[in-house]
Amino acid sequence: MKRIILDCDPGHDDMIAIMLATSSPEIELLGITTVAGNQTGEKTFKNALRILTLIGEDTPVSRGFDKPMVRELTVAPRIHGVSGLDGANLPEATVKDTGKHATDFIIETLLASDEPVTLVPTGPLTNVAFSLLKKPSIKEKIEEIVLMGGAIYDSNITPASEFNIYVDPEAASIVFNSGIPITMVGLDVTNKAVFTFEDIEKIGKMGGHVSSVVAPLLEFFAKANLEIFGIEGAPLHDPLTVAYLIDRDVLETRSLRVDIETMGEYTSGRTVVDVYGVTGKEANASVATNVNVEKFKTMIFDALERLDKR
Ligand code: BDR
Ligand code: CA
Repeated sequence: MKRIILDCDPGHDDMIAIMLATSSPEIELLGITTVAGNQTGEKTFKNALRILTLIGEDTPVSRGFDKPMVRELTVAPRIHGVSGLDGANLPEATVKDTGKHATDFIIETLLASDEPVTLVPTGPLTNVAFSLLKKPSIKEKIEEIVLMGGAIYDSNITPASEFNIYVDPEAASIVFNSGIPITMVGLDVTNKAVFTFEDIEKIGKMGGHVSSVVAPLLEFFAKANLEIFGIEGAPLHDPLTVAYLIDRDVLETRSLRVDIETMGEYTSGRTVVDVYGVTGKEANASVATNVNVEKFKTMIFDALERLDKR
């Protein structure tokens, strides 16, 4: 069983990551920490509580930073709407949060744990970087970091950069230089993990209390992705991290050097991936290069089925 903390900014695809993590027997979700990203810190935090209310979970939720380490916050309303989860009405939250700051939750949980814990960040890396700065000794308790962010070749928020890394590149640089084993699940693979409009219709037809909320949410997300990127459906970026922890066969990876551009006039937030080893620097990440889309989709459908039965 993989023990994880999910650090997220829900977010349509973050929501599916939460659902996959909470409903999979292979995963023990120790807590959810939220960060500003797809929407403001207040909205992503409330969204996490509302998602847990929908699926009947009481996973500890801790709110983190409202802005990146150095820069002003960039949010993504064109993709995720004004609420961060536009497309359907989630129930008002009845579950409570821990009252702790995300970084305190991460640090305390890691220090108290006898076994190593995996961090799964699916938003900007602000909370994770601050936790590492505040208590460097937590490194010993982190088995690995499996994050959604960056890309070898692709981009989505600028011509050079992926959203999560672009929002807080200083934080990303701290994480990628931490020496902790990192798997980078980037757009090169996540943009292939597309739930087509047909798939979304199938989710709608499942007819359960969870799937019937998920279908219109994904439809909103798919329409935005079609309009902006020409992608024919909903690319489920974030849950690929959790899927990989459930079954490593979901992704192919390569051990590569990744540096974060923090200064570029046009390229800030780019993950500079040394595919040909030209820098001579040692690899610091396992970078996803291919995805088994069918295996991934089956996992998501199965998770929704389990949640509907609750
Ligand atoms: C990432 O950015 C966010 O919009 C998504 O939730 C995902 O984490 C994709 O670039
Ligand atoms: Ca996200």
